[in-house]
Amino acid sequence: MDDIKVFAHLTKVIEEYYARQRQGQFLDYHSPDELRGILGLEQPGNPGDWREIFAWVDKYLAYSVKTNHPLFVNRMWVGANLPAIVGEIITALTNASACTFESAPVSTLMEKYMIGEMLDLVGFKNGDGQMTTGSSNANMIAMMAARNATNPSMKQAGLFGQQKLFAFVGADAHYSMDRAANILGIGVDQLIKVPLDPMGAMLPAELERSIARVVESGGLPFFVAATAGTTVRGGYDPIDALLPLRAAYGFWLHVDGAWGGSAVLSPRLRRLYLQGLEAADSFTWDFHKMLGSTLMCNILLINKGKQALATALSAGDGSYLFRNENADEMEDLGPASLQCGRRVDSLKWFLDWKFFGREGLAARVEKSLELCAYAEEVINRSPELELVVPRTSFNVCFRFKVEGEKNNDFNLALRTRLYKEGTTLVGVAYLDGKLVLRLLVINPAAERADIDTFFRHLIAKGRELLRES
Ligand SMILES: Cc1ncc(COP(=O)(O)O)c(C=O)c1O
Repeated sequence: MDDIKVFAHLTKVIEEYYARQRQGQFLDYHSPDELRGILGLEQPGNPGDWREIFAWVDKYLAYSVKTNHPLFVNRMWVGANLPAIVGEIITALTNASACTFESAPVSTLMEKYMIGEMLDLVGFKNGDGQMTTGSSNANMIAMMAARNATNPSMKQAGLFGQQKLFAFVGADAHYSMDRAANILGIGVDQLIKVPLDPMGAMLPAELERSIARVVESGGLPFFVAATAGTTVRGGYDPIDALLPLRAAYGFWLHVDGAWGGSAVLSPRLRRLYLQGLEAADSFTWDFHKMLGSTLMCNILLINKGKQALATALSAGDGSYLFRNENADEMEDLGPASLQCGRRVDSLKWFLDWKFFGREGLAARVEKSLELCAYAEEVINRSPELELVVPRTSFNVCFRFKVEGEKNNDFNLALRTRLYKEGTTLVGVAYLDGKLVLRLLVINPAAERADIDTFFRHLIAKGRELLRES
């Protein structure tokens, strides 16, 4: 097969997969051992044989999860937007590293343009930003920037002999915060988890109490992260209520909007969930989650001047790589990045932005919220289901009701059965020891009928399991 025929065949494979991705079961499930047997990964390759390569592609597609299927309601991402897919293919075709302008001129300008758009949208005046490899790393970079801003000597001297630093997050914050505390030498013990109100939001009075305790014991509170949309419950910490505490104690206020930051696109949802965001010191937000760009697609914005990221990150001699063509401003994105080689993530994001626009993406977020409210209604109407915690936003945490102690085991078995039969994949998490099924409805093609179908399957399977037990 010559290269052109390879592309022709690939197009056919893509078309066929795309046409079927919402049909049938969402997965042809096999246990890991069975799947190993079916795939036969150890078979020797036949160099240069394109038929064999496409046979591997067929197997990959046949046994992968169809993430665009209406019954894939498990994760914070779903099948990707078409403009982003086009961008991803072109990115692979051109294979450049987005660390320098000279190797990636268009993507560098697209990334800067998008950062400018997002700074305007969020309302960070004189801000800085960068696409990173996801919100986990963006949270870490924000914590690092805060650490270095607190005491600029730490970049060179490290934490040795310094006043002990303390960071604060809500009790339901994402685990990447613990990892950041570990990686940055803060220590996980110095990451204080602040109690939440019944809606899953950080209690400012409790934060103040924790900070006061730290100060009394001689520690330095340097970083507070508000979560905008917690991973399990979808709770929003009250950013505006944290601002007076920042004024009093001088910490860096970061907002982790990996999941729920997309509310910023809709003026109504921004008023509801993100009051005060424009005054935060940094904000991270994933486009690959609620908005459907291909994984990974993230931005970290910093509200501390145009050099904030480069000041926090740059170290070592990069003169073999970076060129400053413009005397006023370094065009290269590498000096302000953790990585040297940088994947081009800007093209797909830019294409999505141009194709859908802010209004189109806002409508998607609003629709998702409306469907979550509908799912909540269905649960409340059903005698067999119950919400485990009140719904705050985009996460619906519920379970099938069973009498007695076996609730967790039963719901886990129910969810596993639905998965292995290829019917639906719904998330699972623990809240105060209670297992919850976490429904997320972010597929833009989803409608109320899909939610009805999901619950119909779940209830039927629950009844079947009850009869078996
Ligand atoms: C609130 C929150 N923050 C951070 C992350 C990590 O994001 P990423 O997967 O982009 O590293 C997640 C992922 O689910 C999240 O829910």
